[in-house]
Amino acid sequence: MDTISNQDTLTEKLQNPFPGLRPFHPNEAHLFFGREGQSEEILENLAKNRFAAVLGASGSGKSSLIYCGLLPTLYGGFLHNGRSKWRIAISRPGSDPTANLARSIAKAFKEGSQKDDFEADTFINQAVLRRSSSGISNVINQYKLGKDENFLILVDQFEELFRYQYSGKDSDALDKVDHFINLLVNIVKQQELPVYLVITMRSDFIGDCSPFQQFTRLINDSHYLIPRMTREDFRKAITGPVSVGGGEISDQLVQLLLNEMGNNPDHLPILQHALMRTWEHWVNHSDRSFPMGITEYEAIGRLERALSNHANDAFYELNVEQKRTCEVVFKSLTEKGADNRGIRRPTTAKELAAIAETTVGEVIRVVEVFRMKGRTFLTPSPEVELNENSVVDISHESLMRVWDKLKIWVDEE
Ligand SMILES: Nc1ncnc2c1ncn2[C@@H]1O[C@H](COP(=O)(O)OP(=O)(O)O)[C@@H](O)[C@H]1O
Ligand SMILES: [Mg+2]
Repeated sequence: MDTISNQDTLTEKLQNPFPGLRPFHPNEAHLFFGREGQSEEILENLAKNRFAAVLGASGSGKSSLIYCGLLPTLYGGFLHNGRSKWRIAISRPGSDPTANLARSIAKAFKEGSQKDDFEADTFINQAVLRRSSSGISNVINQYKLGKDENFLILVDQFEELFRYQYSGKDSDALDKVDHFINLLVNIVKQQELPVYLVITMRSDFIGDCSPFQQFTRLINDSHYLIPRMTREDFRKAITGPVSVGGGEISDQLVQLLLNEMGNNPDHLPILQHALMRTWEHWVNHSDRSFPMGITEYEAIGRLERALSNHANDAFYELNVEQKRTCEVVFKSLTEKGADNRGIRRPTTAKELAAIAETTVGEVIRVVEVFRMKGRTFLTPSPEVELNENSVVDISHESLMRVWDKLKIWVDEE
């Protein structure tokens, strides 16, 4: 009796320290391992050029390195320019890059204020950004930065900008891309405001930047290609979070994971997902007086099957009609360019319902099954309530390459 209740109390305390498929969040820096010294290198570029492009393959860990490496280092005062504080706007191009940038700047200045206030700001900022290629300076000047403040704009998943070019739906798409890039180039080139720009972009999209000459020059002058983690880095990325989370892992399992990872380009998201599942299995089904080990790892399907098994579990919970909706939703959230590069396509619940010819309620019911706690295939994360305007996205594009069903759907599309 005693052992069981001890074990139950422990279960409550044991928080899963592995994020799974999604990138690490800014508040998870204590769980982030294996990238020592890399943020400092990016910051040196940033200090010199007020711009840094962080490049790497899909799933190489760009977003996580920025959120859990660069931002904390910045807050820690690494960049000395006489101003010690940072306001940070985090944005993604998504389906409307300028609107999303407008919202992120409003948020950076208005965090914590009334929602209406914030929406009104977004609206005004958008108009200012669209009016002139110096729009970002104009917007920031409206707010006024404090004397001791710097401003950082982070555009994560920059490659989303280029899907416009092959979606073909919007006739002035190229002008919009051009304007957005001009906004960014101008804010880096101006000298009055202490504004810094960081982008993360998949390295397979680097060629799409070359038509934009000034932007290409910025990238040439200041980029950081994220290195593949070494075996030792991976060991830290496995064992570090386990100890922070208060768990234990057997040496055999660590060795096996390191050996099985091999050369799969998606090794990082696959490993991360498998660790999340192994931990969960250990907490819920094992005798925790023993460290988590090969038994738990085999139960979740090893690196090879864990992700597909897990996503299929969710799929088989749906009824026939929901399965159809699910297929349409995932097909809409993913896109393959002519050159076979898969890319995400964040879409609102309302649009998804229109495409699937169903109700928003039905779309949300399906999305919930794939984003519940422990099953983070879709975002926003479960604590955010969904409505028709919520932007739904796959948590990582590696899902398109690893989940057997989605692979087929994407090819069919
Ligand atoms: N240092 C790390 N240690 C362990 N897992 C990581 C690390 N960095 C990223 N990951 C995991 O790898 C996957 C891809 O990370 P992400 O930051 O989204 O990469 P990218 O932005 O390059 O696509 C996610 O599952 C994330 O949790
Ligand atoms: Mg990313």
